[in-house]
Amino acid sequence: MQDIQAIQTQLRDELAAATSEGELEAVRVRYLGRKGVVTLMRKNADFSRMSADEKKHFGQQFNQLKRFVEDQLGQARAARQTSPKAQASIDMTLPGLNSRSGHLHPISLVQMELEDIARAMGFLIETGYHVETDFYNFESLNIPGDHPARDMQDTYWLTNGMLLRTHTSANQVRALETHGVPLRAIFPGRCFRNEAIDASHENTFYQLEGLMVDTDISIANLIAMMKTLLTAVFHREVTVRLRPGYFPFVEPGFELDIQCLICDGGGCATCKRSGWVELLPCGLVHPRVLEFGGVDPDRYSGFAFGLGLTRLAMMKYNIPDIRLLNAGDLRFCEQFPASV
Ligand code: DAH
Repeated sequence: MQDIQAIQTQLRDELAAATSEGELEAVRVRYLGRKGVVTLMRKNADFSRMSADEKKHFGQQFNQLKRFVEDQLGQARAARQTSPKAQASIDMTLPGLNSRSGHLHPISLVQMELEDIARAMGFLIETGYHVETDFYNFESLNIPGDHPARDMQDTYWLTNGMLLRTHTSANQVRALETHGVPLRAIFPGRCFRNEAIDASHENTFYQLEGLMVDTDISIANLIAMMKTLLTAVFHREVTVRLRPGYFPFVEPGFELDIQCLICDGGGCATCKRSGWVELLPCGLVHPRVLEFGGVDPDRYSGFAFGLGLTRLAMMKYNIPDIRLLNAGDLRFCEQFPASV
């Protein structure tokens, strides 16, 4: 008994003095190793001289001591790992484990950039619905049932008479009804047309519609907005020009071109030697559309534009084939950054 208490006290002292993992291991060997104090105690015991009771008593004492040593060692190890001293010994200069970050799709990147700048200009952002009614997609945009413009957009009709929206313009009258005027809003999102797929046509593509309605909105406002947005996307000053274009829901309607960013207008293969690249259709909102949205066209005017997000992403990142965008190939996506 005397021995055992002495051993326990000694062990505690040695553990308290041990400051490293190596020293703790040395203590373990001194007690539990092949020639350790505890091991030898058993080896040296002369069982032939012990009565049955004495053997039993010895066994109990021995097991208790062994468990005590193991517990104390375990506790000392655990304390060492969480002590400030141990933490201070972590080498902060070692390289860490790499965590893999994701990548944003090029269309998301362009969309997020445009959203940031439009938000800063006080524009609402709404995404609308993929499944739309004939009224919002066509009728309210001054495209009645027999209008030839319907043939320009080969529509996926659903069996219940609804359709997959062919353009984000479907949000225009919805937003006028919901928010009234004055209104500034952009509507980014997915659109669908029954197109034969090739390098520049997809049945699923992305647009970003813009709409601003207020008193005294003119073409100057439209041009200013377009220049701001495009400068933000391309990270450089862009030069724009307007050509007449026809869309039933704007009057007058335009095609907006930007000066080719590859040759700065000098003429190259990308701009087909013209110096200009056709980028987005736009115009002043047709009075009929304002009326459908419950807005008085004698008091209010507005501009609208329909940016092809897919086209823009392809131009910005030099993507040669539209099919890459929807293919879901990680090798493609991994070439783009994780944030805007
Ligand atoms: N929605 C038209 C399309 O997808 C594009 C468009 C043209 C939108 C003129 C507009 C606009 O807002 O003013 O073909």
